[in-house]
Amino acid sequence: MKFALAIAALAATANALSEDASNMLLAERFETFKTTHGKVYADEAEHKERLAIFEANVEKVAERNSKLKVPVHGITKFADMTEDEFSFYLGVDANLKAPELPVYKADEVIVNATGSFNWNDEGKLTAVKDQQQCGSCWAFSATETVETAWAIAGNSLTEFAPQQLVSCDSVDQGCNGGLPSNAFEYIKSTGGMCKDSDYPYTSGKGVTGTCTSPLPSLSGGTVSDWGYGQEKCQGFKACTEDTDGLIAALKQYGPMSIAIDASQWSSYTGGIMDSGSCSNSPRKMDHAVQLVGYNADEQYWVVRNSWNTNWGEDGFIRLKMGENTCGVANLAALIKSV
Ligand SMILES: *[C@@H]1O[C@H](CO)[C@@H](O)[C@H](O)[C@H]1NC(C)=O
Repeated sequence: MKFALAIAALAATANALSEDASNMLLAERFETFKTTHGKVYADEAEHKERLAIFEANVEKVAERNSKLKVPVHGITKFADMTEDEFSFYLGVDANLKAPELPVYKADEVIVNATGSFNWNDEGKLTAVKDQQQCGSCWAFSATETVETAWAIAGNSLTEFAPQQLVSCDSVDQGCNGGLPSNAFEYIKSTGGMCKDSDYPYTSGKGVTGTCTSPLPSLSGGTVSDWGYGQEKCQGFKACTEDTDGLIAALKQYGPMSIAIDASQWSSYTGGIMDSGSCSNSPRKMDHAVQLVGYNADEQYWVVRNSWNTNWGEDGFIRLKMGENTCGVANLAALIKSV
């Protein structure tokens, strides 16, 4: 009996010690996180609050990874933010009805694709962008697809201005969200896009701003014909990915603006994300990004995000091919001619 009590006391001490040790470890991890991401807090109160959020996110990372065969989650620059705060880095509302558009199939019919292709290797991608704390993903995705279509059409690679779309496209809602396919309509009616250097991004803290008048000069970036790479999928449908069709369309027409479920992308640190980390339901779409490449041998898509290069794989994410991971195929919008 005495012996058992002694053991219990020892165990309790050990528990207390390991709790102290894990608190120490957490505090150390938090300090490393702060240094890595240049985080500075206003005062001790905010420090404590952020540490508590960080602790909850560390647990969330472990829980997310525990459900996966290959972990893809870790500590990122979003690790001191609540889900509400993170939501400002998104910008698609699943309730928005995407326009009816033609489906543009490629001339080449691919069956059981092999090999890989990436528009980044072709030199058709501008540098990874950063929408910051504004739900303007749709404007960034649209701008990227205009840039790539413009360059693939034989023009010089030009950085166009997401700010023009955020502030001037009145069909979409600036920092409160929108859809790339609506932005293409605005660009067509306006006659093109301004250069980013002529209309720099100022909405990074969440203010949509009013459209500059007169608009800085347009520098190309025209859009005359666009559609979907495969039938759009919205509402309560179950959506499947036409892998070979999307590959052929991607190669022929260029990168596509896509809408996906990024609710767990806050903790993505690298690797191939599969359906264990996101939904392919169109009801879950909350973010717009750009499909830029694939590797059919290793079965993944390459997707460019707009959260700067200090997220994911230098700003990119790989998604498992064939299972419509995160809804990669649901609203794949391409530009057929500029
Ligand atoms: C493509 O793959 C499927 C499934 O493995 C197979 O049944 C089919 O014969 C293949 N088709 C061609 C043209 O290789």
